[in-house]
Amino acid sequence: MPNASILIVDDDSKNRIALSELLQSAEHDVVVAESGNEALRHVLKQDFAVILLDVRMPGLDGFETAKLIRGRERSQHTPIIFLTGADEDLRSMFHGYEVGAVDYILKPPIPEALKSKVSVFVELDNKNSVLTQEIAERKYAEERLKKSEENLRALAARLQLVREEERVRISREIHDELGQALTGLKMEINAVMNQLPRDEMNLAAKVEPALGQIDGIIQIVRRIASGLRPVVLDQLGLTAAIEWQTKEFLKRTGIRCELSLSGEVPALDQERSTAAFRIFQELLTNVARHARATRVEIEMRLESDTLILSVNDNGKGIASTLVQSPKSLGLLGMRERILPFGGSMEIVGSRNKGTRAKISIPLGLR
Ligand SMILES: Nc1ncnc2c1ncn2[C@@H]1O[C@H](COP(=O)(O)OP(=O)(O)OP(=O)(O)O)[C@@H](O)[C@H]1O
Ligand SMILES: [Mg+2]
Repeated sequence: MPNASILIVDDDSKNRIALSELLQSAEHDVVVAESGNEALRHVLKQDFAVILLDVRMPGLDGFETAKLIRGRERSQHTPIIFLTGADEDLRSMFHGYEVGAVDYILKPPIPEALKSKVSVFVELDNKNSVLTQEIAERKYAEERLKKSEENLRALAARLQLVREEERVRISREIHDELGQALTGLKMEINAVMNQLPRDEMNLAAKVEPALGQIDGIIQIVRRIASGLRPVVLDQLGLTAAIEWQTKEFLKRTGIRCELSLSGEVPALDQERSTAAFRIFQELLTNVARHARATRVEIEMRLESDTLILSVNDNGKGIASTLVQSPKSLGLLGMRERILPFGGSMEIVGSRNKGTRAKISIPLGLR
């Protein structure tokens, strides 16, 4: 850290020399000026811990100089001590305080008194520098933190996107390629069976179950494919996908579902409908895994320009500590998912009464 500096302004060279010798120290640098104008030039170039300013000077006097120093942004808070002859009257002393003096010292100064006054200001200046440095460092750290948070967020969003694209591709391949191959196989076996001579009918009976198995496998393939990426979502949209997912949930868990889809929801872009759908799936998974609920109310509606989707269960109720916990990665992921649209998510649990989750996604239509 650079040394603090003090500025001595006096038109009398004897005074200047006496003062600068008196105040010479390893703790600070001493700069001298012989006029108000020279003092202003120094003040423009560097900061001072304190300025000792002679009142009576030809040209710019001490008061005018002080006013100008205070008027400049860089030196508006620099402490000024006026040095004055014994014949100054009280009025001019008040004037000195008005233009920003912090102290008033009669010439010739008492050496120890002046030294200790100056050292107080030097110490203050040193502390100030340390603080300023600390603030700058903290600001820098904060900016870096913010930047890295932004990067992480962008990365997370990108990963979601890639994951979704991958799912779409794999789902399509499984559905189309595997599904077609199985259908082809089934047709071939059928053709062979149709060509079997009458007296080989018992053979046909043996092959029959294989056809049933193939049908079963086709069902499984469809289920895996739509588990990865429901075709309804792409073909029929969010509302249909929510309906479908609700039925699947009921089938899988036996938990009663009440679905309310009031009013028309406009066709959403793929990003929003995917986000809403995935969050919906996660919420239902949470209900199945954690809630011990017997009933779920699901509602989707449009509130002016915002899509509202809520999932309320009658289970044990999520603990409020878990709602905000950084360990609740599932919830965190849901929040992150709607952040790019300026959306939000609220989750409230009440003990043994249930959990209410509500997500809002602005549609950006207006
Ligand atoms: N509907 C709910 N009812 C009661 N508790 C819930 C409900 N949803 C979530 N919780 C509680 O909140 C915790 C955090 O949920 P979150 O979805 O973040 O994580 P998870 O489901 O445990 O794991 P993940 O979703 O990452 O597979 C859960 O572990 C559970 O204790
Ligand atoms: Mg979860």
